[in-house]
Amino acid sequence: MKGSGLLQNKKGIIFGALDEDSIAWQTALQVHAEGGAVILTNFPAAIRLGKINELAALINAPVIPCDVAHLSEIEGLIDKTKEYFSGGFDFILHSVGMSYNIRKKNEYTHLDYELYLRTLEVSAFSLHKILQSCYQKNALNDFASVVALSFMASQKVCPGYNDMADAKAVLESIVRNFGYYYGKSKNVRVNSVSQSPTATTAAKGIEGFSVMSELSNEVSPLGNATAKDVAKYICMLFSDYTHKITLQNLYHDGGYSSMGFK
Ligand SMILES: NC(=O)c1ccc[n+]([C@@H]2O[C@H](COP(=O)([O-])OP(=O)(O)OC[C@H]3O[C@@H](n4cnc5c(N)ncnc54)[C@H](O)[C@@H]3O)[C@@H](O)[C@H]2O)c1
Repeated sequence: MKGSGLLQNKKGIIFGALDEDSIAWQTALQVHAEGGAVILTNFPAAIRLGKINELAALINAPVIPCDVAHLSEIEGLIDKTKEYFSGGFDFILHSVGMSYNIRKKNEYTHLDYELYLRTLEVSAFSLHKILQSCYQKNALNDFASVVALSFMASQKVCPGYNDMADAKAVLESIVRNFGYYYGKSKNVRVNSVSQSPTATTAAKGIEGFSVMSELSNEVSPLGNATAKDVAKYICMLFSDYTHKITLQNLYHDGGYSSMGFK
């Protein structure tokens, strides 16, 4: 993988690399190619069952387990990251999502509310917990950049997306609201990237995913963006070329979101 030194001297945490298909996996590779230093994290079962240790060996990165449902684990991760980098760091990728209702095949009209809460906790509130921990521990450097992954189901109805649509709407709101406070205090940028349907483990569980993916690929003038494409975009957002971009939900979807009829 080729890079241009865009992230020379930048360091940060990447959440959510499970296997080669993961958006986080491709981003970690691209960040490394651009000269950045990475700490990888995922929850313990994913570390055991996925392939994150292979990625860690490829890019010479430590893996620190963290279940984002638990504030204490997030706080521990932030402390260890500061220790590893001997101070503050410059970027965070939140590439985490899980719907327990989708997994149990509960439709949106028949949600289990405990599972609904867990979906929101892991897929959305976790971003608040990460930002709040960093804020209170003064962990991010000036002009650091935080990117979370979203999907257009936050704003438009995509029935199979189920309670994840609500999680993404909350996630985008946290981006704006926490981004305000972190921007005022430390010039930290917080954005979400709304990505095309991308064939990953998380996506394959969504009912009707392949139909949705084919349709958006056909309708978008540039076709669907891949995990490798979004990895490059995220590196740009981590770089010093985007200091004034914050509080945004940025579409990275080959133009799909602006299309009417084709
Ligand atoms: N694939 C798509 O079509 C698509 C489109 C738009 C946005 N996204 C978003 O991109 C992000 C990354 O997903 P992906 O498509 O790369 O799939 P993925 O399955 O590779 O990644 C999801 C990650 O979340 C992690 N995770 C789940 N529960 C966790 C927990 N409790 N603690 C810590 N980590 C946990 C998983 O282990 C996995 O690594 C998600 O937010 C997803 O909603 C995906």
